[in-house]
Amino acid sequence: MEIKNNIFYVGVNDHQVDYFEGQFVVPDGMAYNSYVIIDEQIAVMDTVDSNFADEWLSNVKGVLGEKQPNYLIIQHMEPDHSACIDKFLAVYPNAVLVGNNKTFLMIDNFFRGLAYNKKVVNEGEILSLGGRELTFAFAPMVHWPEVMLTYDKQNKVLFSADAFGKFGALDVDDEWDCEARRYYFGIVGKYGVQVQSALKKLAGVEIEVICPLHGPILKEDLGHYLNLYNVWSSYGVETKGVVIAYTSVYGNTKKAALILAEKLKELGEERVVLTDLVRDDIYEAVEDAFRHDRLVLATTTYNGGIFPKMKEYIDHLTERNFQNKTIAIMENGSWAPMCVKPILAMFEKSKNLNVLTESVKILSSVSDQNLVEIEALAKALVK
Ligand code: FEO
Repeated sequence: MEIKNNIFYVGVNDHQVDYFEGQFVVPDGMAYNSYVIIDEQIAVMDTVDSNFADEWLSNVKGVLGEKQPNYLIIQHMEPDHSACIDKFLAVYPNAVLVGNNKTFLMIDNFFRGLAYNKKVVNEGEILSLGGRELTFAFAPMVHWPEVMLTYDKQNKVLFSADAFGKFGALDVDDEWDCEARRYYFGIVGKYGVQVQSALKKLAGVEIEVICPLHGPILKEDLGHYLNLYNVWSSYGVETKGVVIAYTSVYGNTKKAALILAEKLKELGEERVVLTDLVRDDIYEAVEDAFRHDRLVLATTTYNGGIFPKMKEYIDHLTERNFQNKTIAIMENGSWAPMCVKPILAMFEKSKNLNVLTESVKILSSVSDQNLVEIEALAKALVK
């Protein structure tokens, strides 16, 4: 498939994978994108996951025929993109690997003893392929330290590495925003500052096509994707709404969460998202917390602390620099409810949190007093 002016797609779809990176459920599979640029000189952009070496090499050969590639450009060394470097060199031993100093340290660690020709590039360096020039811009921690983006100035094409990627294979037609958001917050969410730095480098750069390493090639309405990346990486609010994340052992905390959701709707709140942290995908719950402006945590005291799945959830949020939101707590306990203090302690380093003083303390099951508290909390949330 030609994307634009002798840039060809040679990636693969993975429907075997169950958990991407060993933890993110991917019911629609995953795409590992790779590209071939044919010019006076030929460059291949990244490889793919090791399970797809033969299919990928066959795709490359399908575009190249008997031509020999001059370069293999390595934008990212995570093995979903780099695992076939050695197999590529076995077929094309004269190709020069292009990367930065950090790239080559990682190559030597992943592929011990591999011999190769290399070209080390620096920030802003240009590689001419003859008719076009490729400019490299480093994007450390988007999502590893060695990551670099590549810009084809003549054709206004940005090769964006993991940025603008999403979960899901390319032969499954699902909405970009949802699975790109889950991918972003799951994988890159901690590195908002670094994503902002990368976006600043792209400001003023004319881009007509974005070629990421996962997900579809983006050609239309690029402002939409750039704007979402700006909101996500600045920990802003994408959608106004209340997320109620709960755990419930015998259904009483869940009941309180459902009552709160109903009260919020009665008060005119248009968007209320309920999530069961044990049964629903926790990374969906993570992206929901970052997407919206208000978050209610409803849970029980357990072993004198926080119920395990809630603790895990808060860990996911805080380690990704959760900030700039309103939060509230509903707690349940049959003899000594005491999880509010440790929950607040977990958020101690979160910047700019508005913690509502309205809270709900349930003793085993929802009481009349709790109904009053829930109503007050709902009112505070919609204020
Ligand atoms: Fe798609 Fe960070 O690898």
